[in-house]
Amino acid sequence: MLVFSRGNRLRFGVIFRQTQCVNCRHYGKKGKEVDKELLKEMEKRYQIFAKTDSKSLLKKHLTQEIFDKLKTRTTPSFNSTLLHCINSGLCNPDSGVGIYAPDAEAYKVFGAIFDPIIEEYHRGFKKTDKHPESCYGSGKDFPNLDPDNAFIVSTRVRCGRSVQCYPFNPCLTEQQYAELQYKLCSALHSLEGEYFGTYMPLAGMDKSTQQKLIDDHFLFKEGDRFLETAGASRFWPNGRGIFFNKKKNFLVWVNEEDHIRIISMEKGGDLGKVYDRMIGGVEALGKKIEFSRDERLGFLTFCPTNLGTSIRASVHIKLPKLNADKEKMQQLADEYHLQVRGTSGEHSEAKGGVHDISNKRRMGLTEYQAIKEMHDGINALIEAECNA
Ligand code: ARG
Repeated sequence: MLVFSRGNRLRFGVIFRQTQCVNCRHYGKKGKEVDKELLKEMEKRYQIFAKTDSKSLLKKHLTQEIFDKLKTRTTPSFNSTLLHCINSGLCNPDSGVGIYAPDAEAYKVFGAIFDPIIEEYHRGFKKTDKHPESCYGSGKDFPNLDPDNAFIVSTRVRCGRSVQCYPFNPCLTEQQYAELQYKLCSALHSLEGEYFGTYMPLAGMDKSTQQKLIDDHFLFKEGDRFLETAGASRFWPNGRGIFFNKKKNFLVWVNEEDHIRIISMEKGGDLGKVYDRMIGGVEALGKKIEFSRDERLGFLTFCPTNLGTSIRASVHIKLPKLNADKEKMQQLADEYHLQVRGTSGEHSEAKGGVHDISNKRRMGLTEYQAIKEMHDGINALIEAECNA
């Protein structure tokens, strides 16, 4: 099995050391030829995967024909292969999606597999479509979803950002991790007002503090097998960390799945307030750091599920009656383009009947529309709960 080691070296692959700007596309320039041994390994593992009953989008869309078309390609700047994109999906047949872009060019070079997956995940974003310009609107259009505090435990809105001139996780060198952390930490420490706060690096954090932050849903989990096999955990915990404001309702994750995750969260259902705080935070940080944005794909992220707006607006919500009728809950979620997850996020169980429900698609619509989609959907679920 090809696993990305925590060192800089891949067992069969390339050693990533280049530091070119991912946004300066090397049109016309080709990547290196795929190593013969790597190609053999890729073929063998694809054949095994094709026989599994994985329900992932990768399994559905990676036909033999597309596999054959892409297996010898590499990206110009980082020599990433198809195997780098699909290793997580091959190692984890229980993936929902199963693919990541090791570098930004992979979205183009391996478009024949990314495009259909993007189209299905983001409900109809075609390869000829262009993601719209950002439009945040304002939180005042989103009244409290649960003014009596009967259903919603907490509300969270996040977005992801990549920093210009740095590749995604699998291609970052240890030095680049350190550099990125330094840049982000300095930018974050210059935030003012309600965003004023502290950065805590993960390296050196004591285990009990770390576990408490994870249990309180502030900090990312450690050892995510989907990310690890995608090559996103190299040099862990170096270069990773978390920033909080004083009230712990504005957080920034550094170098977890994406370079930056900007999070606003609080107890209760006041989506408008939570959203406004996130917008203010992204805008303030955007004045200090240049984010990577692609003309067609919108904000660039490591996982294709987060492209476009990269917005995920979620509630932790208890809907006991609907919970007893899982089919109805799923049917409503599908109708309103919502995603239902367990209490500790994806691939987790719903503890005490608390689900994490969010907008599913993030591409082909504006930030405002993504929030509206979630607001409408959660309202509909609450109404269904009341009428059940
Ligand atoms: N690769 C995982 C899967 O396919 C996660 C996909 C979406 N989540 C994410 N954090 N990017 O199930």
